[in-house]
Amino acid sequence: MSDTVLVSGANGRTGRAVVTALLKRGVAVSAFIRKPEQADGLKALGATSIAIGDMLAADTIRAAMKGCDAVVHIGPPMHPDEKLITSHFVNAAMAVNIKRFVYYSVMHPLRREVPHHARKLDTEEMVIESGVPYTIIQPIRYMQHLETIWKEVLSSGVHAMPFNTHVKFNVADLVDLADASALAATTPGHLYATYELAGPQSLSQDEMATIIGEVLKRPITARQIPLDEMASKAKAAGATDLRIETMRKMNGHYDHSGFLGNANVMRWLLGREPTHFCVYVERLAKRDGLM
Ligand SMILES: NC(=O)c1ccc[n+]([C@@H]2O[C@H](COP(=O)([O-])OP(=O)(O)OC[C@H]3O[C@@H](n4cnc5c(N)ncnc54)[C@H](OP(=O)(O)O)[C@@H]3O)[C@@H](O)[C@H]2O)c1
Repeated sequence: MSDTVLVSGANGRTGRAVVTALLKRGVAVSAFIRKPEQADGLKALGATSIAIGDMLAADTIRAAMKGCDAVVHIGPPMHPDEKLITSHFVNAAMAVNIKRFVYYSVMHPLRREVPHHARKLDTEEMVIESGVPYTIIQPIRYMQHLETIWKEVLSSGVHAMPFNTHVKFNVADLVDLADASALAATTPGHLYATYELAGPQSLSQDEMATIIGEVLKRPITARQIPLDEMASKAKAAGATDLRIETMRKMNGHYDHSGFLGNANVMRWLLGREPTHFCVYVERLAKRDGLM
């Protein structure tokens, strides 16, 4: 019988990618979700079983963990209770003698100016000290942030993000990050490791816009969205004040520091070259019949 891996946050952007990556490895996946109406979508993705629960309710997590061999815990982004939520998963995992506990953190949690990075740092400390057999995944910013503005880029010819256009990021493909997380959850040799996972190129918004333009064969320019404009858009989209304040701090931090990293760990883990930004943009363009 194959191992069963519990994935929390399974219906989220990261969760769905990790479920897909685990299924490719031939293991059974139990998808932890809080809304029963999301079950059909997860089953269509291939999830073997569904666990309905709330990350803030420890008893639902204990019930979901029964019969599982490993867990990939993916907490909700920028959540004030990151550490409490993760402690519920750690305790439940230890109660069933889990083989592998993968904690999905963030690269450079030590950047304490960014509140959710600081919370992930405190949470990593708790995970390490708990005695659970852990692997910590530290992903950098995703390439997939382009997907949230893709339609606007296509209609306006402008790539707009809330930080200046020359500061650089080693953005990573979520498919690569999910493959790396699935490896850590299913293969030996990754216990008690912390993996910084970054993409292979250091790119500014200006450079990303140029690459998108080369793929689409039309000029694309970059623009810095002022933080107040970002905040009112997020408010209109229903974001909480706490989330908006956190986004202000994160993007303000990006504006002066960017987010640079090294792809060697990802290269070693995957045993192949991590995805380059132009390949990712080509994937989007092909998906939409643009090339
Ligand atoms: N975006 C990046 O560039 C990046 C980089 C590094 C690390 N990360 C990390 O990746 C993680 C996931 O981010 P994401 O963008 O994939 O998140 P997401 O799409 O917002 O997904 C979060 C999921 O968590 C679920 N959830 C929220 N509260 C819950 C609760 N109380 N009980 C059960 N489920 C709950 C949500 O369910 P509903 O559908 O019911 O709301 C949703 O499916 C975060 O920890 C983030 O810090 C992201």
